Amino acid sequence: MKKILFAASECVPFIKTGGLADVVGSLPKYINQQDYDVRVILPCYKAIPASFKENMEYKTHFYMELAWRNQYVGIMELKLQGVTFYFLDNEFYFSGSTPYSNIHEDIEKFAFFSKAVLSALPLIEFRPDIIHCHDWQTGLIPVYLHDTFSKGEFYQGIKTIMTIHNLKFQGVWDIKTVQDITGLSEYYFTSDKLEAYGDANYLKGGIVYSDLVTTVSDSYAFEIQTPFFGEGLDGLMSAKANSLMGIVNGIDYEEYDPQTDKLITYNYNARDFRKEKIKNKRALQKELGLKNNDKSFMVGIVSRLTDQKGLDLIDCVIEELCSDDVQLVVLGTGEQKYENLFRHYAWKYSDRVSANIFYSNERSHKIYAGCDAFLMPSLFEPCGLSQLISLRYGTVPIVRETGGLRDTVEPYNEYESTGTGFSFQNYNAHDMLNTVNYAKNIFLNKKREWNKLIDRAMAKDFSWKNSALKYENIYLNLN
Ligand code: GLC
Repeated sequence: MKKILFAASECVPFIKTGGLADVVGSLPKYINQQDYDVRVILPCYKAIPASFKENMEYKTHFYMELAWRNQYVGIMELKLQGVTFYFLDNEFYFSGSTPYSNIHEDIEKFAFFSKAVLSALPLIEFRPDIIHCHDWQTGLIPVYLHDTFSKGEFYQGIKTIMTIHNLKFQGVWDIKTVQDITGLSEYYFTSDKLEAYGDANYLKGGIVYSDLVTTVSDSYAFEIQTPFFGEGLDGLMSAKANSLMGIVNGIDYEEYDPQTDKLITYNYNARDFRKEKIKNKRALQKELGLKNNDKSFMVGIVSRLTDQKGLDLIDCVIEELCSDDVQLVVLGTGEQKYENLFRHYAWKYSDRVSANIFYSNERSHKIYAGCDAFLMPSLFEPCGLSQLISLRYGTVPIVRETGGLRDTVEPYNEYESTGTGFSFQNYNAHDMLNTVNYAKNIFLNKKREWNKLIDRAMAKDFSWKNSALKYENIYLNLN
């Protein structure tokens, strides 16, 4: 039995700011438990709901040196749905209202976390064969392992995998401070190691020192070897091309199932959606105060409101986009300019635009079930999960052909009657608008074709089944 430890900064259902949490929370459940013992280690944030905290079991605590500081590390444990979770406790670092604050605090917080993960292992009596690290917050784990830990017998032979969920976030700060915080020697701060463009870079450390690097789709694995997507590390990514793999994310098919979903108003499936799905649309229109009209083309957006998500394109053509026969429903928070953009249009066109500037899991499920289409015009998208949820709910995705969007949504071809959604190639507002209008035209005037698109979308399988096998395969072969 191989032992795998996931290390990450967020994980559903405990704490979430984005798709990283969904992946870390669902993938371990779908790895074959006969052959793999997969556990997860996370920071014990104050913001984790009390309902989970109450059930955590205190294991032990110790003090750890981090450069010149001596810090408390508490270890808590919780079993949930067959998976063991460890939480590392330290009030100084983890008492914020969200997992992340400003970068200079986060830099120290996650140096602490990374070193504490390794230090805690002998005490939890779990010696992983592989530590699977996710994103820059855990980038120092392979570095610390290489530095002092691997000299201890307990740690010898532990392998590490670094999965990049988003290359844009790298954990960068000046070398002097990082040296001071981490206690790592000068040796590590050269351009073949942690140094990049004059600063220290945690993710780069993780990439350089891990045994294998993966990212969350094939296209993104290729894209990050080019300057536009490479965020300054494209040279390193191409140098690593032989040990860089793309494995597309899945979604939790138990949580996202229109047939059994308790958060949506009417359940439906691939056979009865023609009659049943629309009831969710009517209920959503009512709930959001939009005009009750079956013929409105209802387009959903559930997203962090950041420029990665292509919201500038929407900003550019929003007047044309929100035409009489369209309803736009947005859910999410993020940059103020986008929050205000949607608030403004919800005020201006209150019968057809709904701006939900907050996050609600329940509302997100209702949007996935109720809308006709789902818009995701991302500038870049390592994988994207919303389009996968949309496919599962028969809500036709309209996406830009980048990263995971390109790999998971097949563009509609009206001549061959194939495809599961609509897509456009260039990052151009009118290309997006034309694509939305094309989709709308099929929806309004070729209902049979539209329903066949939904048939094909709902027949796709983006459960973890296939991708979990790919992870198992790399776990098996990493010796
Ligand atoms: C990040 C990426 C997103 C990906 C998710 C999970 O949030 O932006 O594309 O789906 O991580 O891997």
